[in-house]
Amino acid sequence: MKIGILTSGGDCPGLNAVIRGSVLKGIRVLDAEFVGIRNGWKGLVEGDFMTLDRHSVRGLSRQGGTILGSSRTNPFEGDNGGPINIQKTMDAEGIDAIIAIGGEGTLTAARRLTDAGLQIVGVPKTIDNDLEATDYSFGFNTAVEIATEAIDRLRTTAESHGRCMIVEVMGRHVGWIALHAGMAGGAHAILIPEQPQTIEQICEWVMHVRDRGRAPVLVVSEGFKLAGMDEALSTKGLDAFNRPRLGGISEMIAPMIEERTGIETRATVLGHTQRGGAPSAYDRVLATRLGMAAVDAVYAEQWGSMVSLRGTDMEIVSIADATIGLKTVPQARYDEAAVLFG
Ligand code: F6P
Repeated sequence: MKIGILTSGGDCPGLNAVIRGSVLKGIRVLDAEFVGIRNGWKGLVEGDFMTLDRHSVRGLSRQGGTILGSSRTNPFEGDNGGPINIQKTMDAEGIDAIIAIGGEGTLTAARRLTDAGLQIVGVPKTIDNDLEATDYSFGFNTAVEIATEAIDRLRTTAESHGRCMIVEVMGRHVGWIALHAGMAGGAHAILIPEQPQTIEQICEWVMHVRDRGRAPVLVVSEGFKLAGMDEALSTKGLDAFNRPRLGGISEMIAPMIEERTGIETRATVLGHTQRGGAPSAYDRVLATRLGMAAVDAVYAEQWGSMVSLRGTDMEIVSIADATIGLKTVPQARYDEAAVLFG
């Protein structure tokens, strides 16, 4: 069996560990052969391949980014796009099946191609942790670690200068990174997309903290909306899937807090630092296991499926179930965290 592997969408710590897990298990246990597909669906549409043997995955689990490259190309577009052309490209290269590692957009495209007869298995990837049908996706734990360290560091300056610090984290339309990093870092309020708040409520939390003699540290998700805002703040246009690029809400809120409370307030947007560098040990293990499970799913001919984490077990679910909607932060998880606000 010859298996093509691609990584598509934004990069994410752990992509290389998935590739290594698949290749090592496939070669050692199942006698599989692999080929790397460069730059996501783009490489499949353009027939751009690279060697992916045992040697090329050596020491890869600790390496950030993806050795295959990534892009946000839509495989249904372009002269060579679409299932019929892609199948021809696969046949020409002798590829029997594909492991597609990606988030919602990638997995949705994989499902559509599978519906048209292509042999594809998906692996969930996103720092946002917003995919249904898996408890966690790799990359999330690393992003939380990085954000938590940033909160710890910013707290030092907050305390030294008596300032209010707002730390803005990624996550698109869900608040998982903010919830976990905020709780780990002891934030005085965690502002997430699922729970709009008024500026008055935020200032009340800030003043409580100040009245106790502490310097307020707030964590806000890029997708957070103040009560009354219809959409999350987006000032940087659209991405390749026509989704608004989010970011900047902390810089909008900081002067509002300063004006109402009289406390000097600074915003820090963590941005892509949350996706960069080496994956955490947790993510290396999760990614490696998902990679190995994906090869098993290929050999079980589970086309249109995705490997997932349930509790501590690897499971196979349908991509359709995983992309049915966003996995948002449940009310109970927010209420639990909110006990510690102010
Ligand atoms: O989905 C992962 C993510 O990092 C989001 O948290 C963020 O909104 C988005 O990607 C940024 O995408 P890009 O790197 O294309 O700007």
